[in-house]
Amino acid sequence: MNKILVTGGCGYIGTHTMVDLIENGFDVISIDNFSRSNPKMLERVEKITGKQIKNYAIDLCNFDACRSVFLENTDIKGIIHFAAFKAVNESVENPLLYFQNNLFSLINLLKCVEEFATPYFVFSSSCTVYGSPDESPVSESSPIKPGESPYGITKQMGEEIVSEFSKANSTKCVSLRYFNPVGAHPSSLIGELPIGKPQNLFPAITQTAIGKISKLTVHGNDYDTRDGSCIRDYIHVCDIAHAHTLSINYLEAEKEKSNFSVFNLGTGVGVSVLEAIETFEKVNKVKLNYEIGPKRPGDIMAIYASNELAKSELGWSLKYSLADMVSSSWKWEQKLKEEFDSSIK
Ligand code: WQD
Repeated sequence: MNKILVTGGCGYIGTHTMVDLIENGFDVISIDNFSRSNPKMLERVEKITGKQIKNYAIDLCNFDACRSVFLENTDIKGIIHFAAFKAVNESVENPLLYFQNNLFSLINLLKCVEEFATPYFVFSSSCTVYGSPDESPVSESSPIKPGESPYGITKQMGEEIVSEFSKANSTKCVSLRYFNPVGAHPSSLIGELPIGKPQNLFPAITQTAIGKISKLTVHGNDYDTRDGSCIRDYIHVCDIAHAHTLSINYLEAEKEKSNFSVFNLGTGVGVSVLEAIETFEKVNKVKLNYEIGPKRPGDIMAIYASNELAKSELGWSLKYSLADMVSSSWKWEQKLKEEFDSSIK
């Protein structure tokens, strides 16, 4: 009885987490309607793990479809809920799409968790819940500021919904606040697949280096930071993935004091945009074509995590360095180009 349901299982963090769960002895099923992911990624997870994975291509906003998965799998021990839209600027342009999709899907899922008494529930949250912090590192007890975007508000509301649900039910819940997930699995078989022009720094760097983007724009170098560019806590997606496996183990061990725990998933080290670029160039021995442009509206100057709680409570330790992040993301980008080039031959 160690079946874990991963929603959004074919997405960036979902695929890496399914690999980690399987490598740690869990059976895994997935729900993913491929609205923001690629079905090919499921085959890649199967190739890495050697295991067949059942995916239910249903929309979690359809309660009956969501419930049908539970009727077919009455032995689900835990759920890791990734499925949500996560593009900040899209959420600003289309707030109702984000509130409907991210919140209706969560509520439908929790209604099934309640009906089928699923023991454990892990919610995918984000450092975006902190808004623009007064200082860094931010800990789990740092103030939650007003949401900076509809996307961020859905994460804040999502955490509240899970917290209140856990008080009224026996299901034990964890919320994981990711800082900036980057990099790719060492096999280069799975990685980030941005839709359209990448908004995030790492895919923008690798697509510039590979020539898909002619020049990277650094959004501002006159912030009040050590080199003027924004500071973030970049963390390898495989370290993020393993924290999810450890969260299930943590809930199973019934170590938590309450039914709801929150953990930051960051390295605890702030890295600036210019430092990330410099590390990418040095490690990969490539020169990146970039220019300094205006600040990006909505960007916060600096945020990085205190990760002591995840380390002490989950027994989590970091395996990957910034060099691993920039080299694995570059290898992944090169693999994507190889496959694209061979597909058009
Ligand atoms: C990082 C830094 C940019 C692109 C977002 C979401 C957050 C989470 C992670 C989901 C910033 C700079 C970027 C570029 C640049 N997503 N940058 N040139 O904004 O910290 O977080 O993604 O959970 O919720 O808000 O990440 O990678 O977009 O930006 O200079 O072409 O890189 O200005 O300073 P961000 P990011």
